[in-house]
Amino acid sequence: MELAGITKRFPGVVANDRVDLRVADGEIHAVVGENGAGKSTLMKILYGMQSADEGRMLVGGSEVAFSSPAEAIDAGIGMVHQHFMLADNLTVLENVILGAEPTRRGIIDRRSARRNLDELGRSYGLDLHPDDLVETLEVGERQRVEIIKVLFRGAKVLILDEPTAVLVPQEVEELFRNLRELKSRGHTIIFIDHKLEEVLAIADTITVLRQGRTVATVEPGDVTAHELAELMVGSELPAPSTEPRTVDEHVTLSVRNLTVTGTDGRPAVDAVDLDVHRGEIIGVAGVEGNGQGELIEALLGLRPTSEGELLLDGESIADWPVRKRREAGIGYVPEDRHRRGLLLDAPLWENAMLGHQTQPPYAKGPWLDRSGAREATARIVADFDVRTPGIDTSARALSGGNQQKLVIGREMLAGPRMLVAAHPTRGIDVGAQAAVWEDLRAARRDGLAVLLVSADLEELIGLADRLVVMLRGRIVAELDPTTTTPRLLGGYMTGAVDEEASTS
Ligand SMILES: Nc1ncnc2c1ncn2[C@@H]1O[C@H](COP(=O)(O)OP(=O)(O)OP(=O)(O)O)[C@@H](O)[C@H]1O
Ligand SMILES: [Mg+2]
Repeated sequence: MELAGITKRFPGVVANDRVDLRVADGEIHAVVGENGAGKSTLMKILYGMQSADEGRMLVGGSEVAFSSPAEAIDAGIGMVHQHFMLADNLTVLENVILGAEPTRRGIIDRRSARRNLDELGRSYGLDLHPDDLVETLEVGERQRVEIIKVLFRGAKVLILDEPTAVLVPQEVEELFRNLRELKSRGHTIIFIDHKLEEVLAIADTITVLRQGRTVATVEPGDVTAHELAELMVGSELPAPSTEPRTVDEHVTLSVRNLTVTGTDGRPAVDAVDLDVHRGEIIGVAGVEGNGQGELIEALLGLRPTSEGELLLDGESIADWPVRKRREAGIGYVPEDRHRRGLLLDAPLWENAMLGHQTQPPYAKGPWLDRSGAREATARIVADFDVRTPGIDTSARALSGGNQQKLVIGREMLAGPRMLVAAHPTRGIDVGAQAAVWEDLRAARRDGLAVLLVSADLEELIGLADRLVVMLRGRIVAELDPTTTTPRLLGGYMTGAVDEEASTS
């Protein structure tokens, strides 16, 4: 497959500027680059979701021009998006067949669809429950549904936009096994990834984009992660800083015997005790779906607690509605920026005040303060390096990483006492990641208490003052990050190591 001289312009930006991309049959090809470099745009062009302004596309030696994904699918190209596109209220099976329903005498043939799905799942080793509602699935499971959906349509070429961003290390290994399996069966895989170690581990070829241009095509044996990062940003990376501890005696957030009922009626969070001190970052490690999500929702008031106590600076907040908790200074970086973090069709300046709209600088008394809001947004854009043509641009038009930076900037600008952050650097490039880490460290110096849930174990170990591991709703280990390795942490997360066994 070959893309030559692809150019795509949006108002105020050239997303792709004469990009070249060459993908050999049956290879795993990685595309890397900073947030906003034009990776997703290029993939959407290849998949017929967007049309290029200039350039040529060849598949198997002949020129193609897709005017819709349906045409790309017919040519054997399928895509799993950066932000999943499943229908929440349908089952796994219904989602997989949606738009490609097998029929018998004009009626949807569910039985053959089910058989097909089972077969695909089995032969590729993708574990699925066809009758589960998609809204009840964890992110890793949703991803498997998306992959199966693409295979169900007969794709030979799979495009995956940041597939590992949402996964924990064990799941990444599983995904990589699946991708290698696909490759061994003759599929071609193109994927985008910000984690350069992963790219080096699995890719056969790597194309680097910078500001809409192809700057290099390399093989993993020929570069280090550091060199790859420098190709992406076009300059030397700053060295990471080390910090003295700033943990204070004062307990900002106290969680006592907290039990939260999950969607399935069983305790998702089970008698958890946890203190977060002023100036402290607590890292929460765990395989997705072990109660971290429910813990966060309970802290924010998005999910009722069935037992236990929540104290913010000594005051009980368990009965407070979300808004009151936010106004009291609980900042929130949600896991899913599209569902919980942003209004995609609203301009940036409206997004910048979500959840803070009743307070200055976004409000004056009972009134919305438009100019205050616009100034604050401009400040977020500048301080957090949100790459956008302006603050009237809609959130949807921003690249994934830049959307994330906007959400983080919004929460930090409000000056929280307590920040609850779920995967704050998911999907953002190495440079921006370093910047977010710096912001969190600076806020910690100023006394911010942070509860950090992350699937990035390096991030947890590098940032946290204390680590806790959640498994089946309980805290099963408390670890000192200075003496913990990602491997050991992974062991606790999966239950392969347990604390009693290792300390006795
Ligand atoms: N529909 C759109 N309308 C306007 N601008 C857009 C649109 N889609 C993308 N852009 C702009 O094009 C540029 C490239 O965006 P793209 O999403 O391709 O980046 P990316 O490399 O995938 O970044 P990330 O790593 O953050 O996902 C960005 O400046 C983005 O704001
Ligand atoms: Mg992208």
